[in-house]
Amino acid sequence: MPKIRLDKFLKDQGIASRSELKSFIKKGMVQVNNETVKDPGTHVDTDKDIVLLDGRPVVYKEFVYYMLNKPKGVITATEDKRLETVLDLLPENIRRRDVFPVGRLDKDTEGLLLITNDGNFAHNLLSPKKHVTKLYEAVLDVYPGNEAVKAFEEGVILDDGYKAMPAKLEFLSTEGKVVARVEVFEGKFHQVKRMFKAVGATVLELKRLRMGEVWLDETLKPGEFRELTREEILLLGGKV
Ligand code: URA
Repeated sequence: MPKIRLDKFLKDQGIASRSELKSFIKKGMVQVNNETVKDPGTHVDTDKDIVLLDGRPVVYKEFVYYMLNKPKGVITATEDKRLETVLDLLPENIRRRDVFPVGRLDKDTEGLLLITNDGNFAHNLLSPKKHVTKLYEAVLDVYPGNEAVKAFEEGVILDDGYKAMPAKLEFLSTEGKVVARVEVFEGKFHQVKRMFKAVGATVLELKRLRMGEVWLDETLKPGEFRELTREEILLLGGKV
């Protein structure tokens, strides 16, 4: 990472707004390598320089990665005039880091949603070419029969004529509440719902459980989030 301005260094860490940070710097609250620096334009080396704000070290992290258990009723967008978005569930210090959701879940879908400010990471996870699977659990109105497993394996034809990539389907229960798990490579609009429609079933509830090798942390209640662990970031191809 090249040298960057001190105010950018601090702003990138989401600590406070740019104007608040400028005033902290002017007040002499910021030290670089033990020297008080009052010019917000001073350049600092993100790898080597030791920056203290109010006596506390500020560690520079270029990228941040979170998992959110998206609740139903919230839209996957960065902002909306009327509806609550997934970013509204995060505190200001995280939103200031210019984070965005990786792909989208429908308003009525819940489960694993990754949030980051690493554009390459997001791109790689979503590109069908990279073959990152997404595992969903769906509650269906009817059991579409075991033929659906074969149809998914071969690639079902969606309502617009598109042939979906092969997907792995299994049923956890076929009577009473019909519950299925499906693993897909791609993320077209309403993909899973439309795949089930193609075999005659309607999705009543949908939850994403896993992306690549990373599972939704089941201790997270809907609406809760946490940072990805170092291991999870590496599993998904992020930068630590
Ligand atoms: N497929 C859907 O139909 N909806 C989602 O939210 C995710 C995958």
